[in-house]
Amino acid sequence: MKENAIRSLLFVPGDNEKLIVKALASEADAVIVDLEDAVSPDHKPRARQICREVLGARHCNGKPVFVRVNGFDTDHTARDLAAVMGGFPSGIVLPKCEHADDIGRLSHGLEVLEARDGAEIGRTRIVTVATETALATLQLSGPRVDPTGRLWGMLWGGEDLSASLGAQSNRDEHGAYTFPYQYARSQCLFAANALGVVAIDAVYPDFRDLTGLADETRLALRDGFGAKAAIHPAQIAVINQILTPTADQLDWANEVMLLLQDRGVARMDGKMVDLAHKRVAQRMLARAAALR
Ligand code: COA
Ligand code: MG
Repeated sequence: MKENAIRSLLFVPGDNEKLIVKALASEADAVIVDLEDAVSPDHKPRARQICREVLGARHCNGKPVFVRVNGFDTDHTARDLAAVMGGFPSGIVLPKCEHADDIGRLSHGLEVLEARDGAEIGRTRIVTVATETALATLQLSGPRVDPTGRLWGMLWGGEDLSASLGAQSNRDEHGAYTFPYQYARSQCLFAANALGVVAIDAVYPDFRDLTGLADETRLALRDGFGAKAAIHPAQIAVINQILTPTADQLDWANEVMLLLQDRGVARMDGKMVDLAHKRVAQRMLARAAALR
């Protein structure tokens, strides 16, 4: 999996094979086949089967495929994992992740199934959905480590969190997230960057409003998110375009790298640039290289 190359991750319901194949053929950099909220309880067994078949049928053409299993708040997780791991998904998305221990618990399960299926131990990455409950959001404060080495990214989401908080809405009259959700979003951004994993911005549910999506994606880029999740193929081009460094940004990055080749600080266009700018420049160049 070329990590810096993932800008967009497209969710698709796990019980709809036609849609999964469409998602795999889309321009999304990665696909998340959902076994959780997009699949009703009585469809879960069928969804597991479809997901395993799609993974095994090599429809994926090298596109990273994650599977969102049901969380440890249900009794589905083990069955989901046992059913899909033989298809060697790139990673597992763990929803309702409330404690750092949940990552260890998932990792143990993955290890056993990797051994069962003759896969390299540790190959399956983990993405947590990190802010779905009040407790989960609070737990993101404080020092964290990932002893499993599997964590690839952390996704935040405002929809389940509003249910957990008993909120009537998570956005104001202009469509912007209200403070509790900006807090959760920031918690995810801090925790992901503290761990050195990708901070993934939440889905934009109003999939017909591409202008709103573009604004929200620009905010995500500005603040340091590395990727954004999507629910509809029409959202992918917008996300990919905004999260691809422009020629001007790359010129800037190359100039910063050149100026700071053998010193810590320099003047560029009348302003100071230092190591902090160099890190931003390195991130942009790494992304551009990964996308080539
Ligand atoms: N992946 C792949 N293809 C998708 C898709 C997705 N997530 N969402 C829509 N499409 C396809 C449709 O099948 C349709 O294809 P067609 O033109 O060949 O018939 C086309 O894109 C246009 O779809 P549209 O009619 O605009 O949307 P819809 O009303 O059919 O579906 C949703 C809307 C929200 C139900 C659908 O986009 C969806 O299920 N998204 C994913 C939801 C999800 O997984 N949620 C869990 C995480 S938050
Ligand atoms: Mg949910």
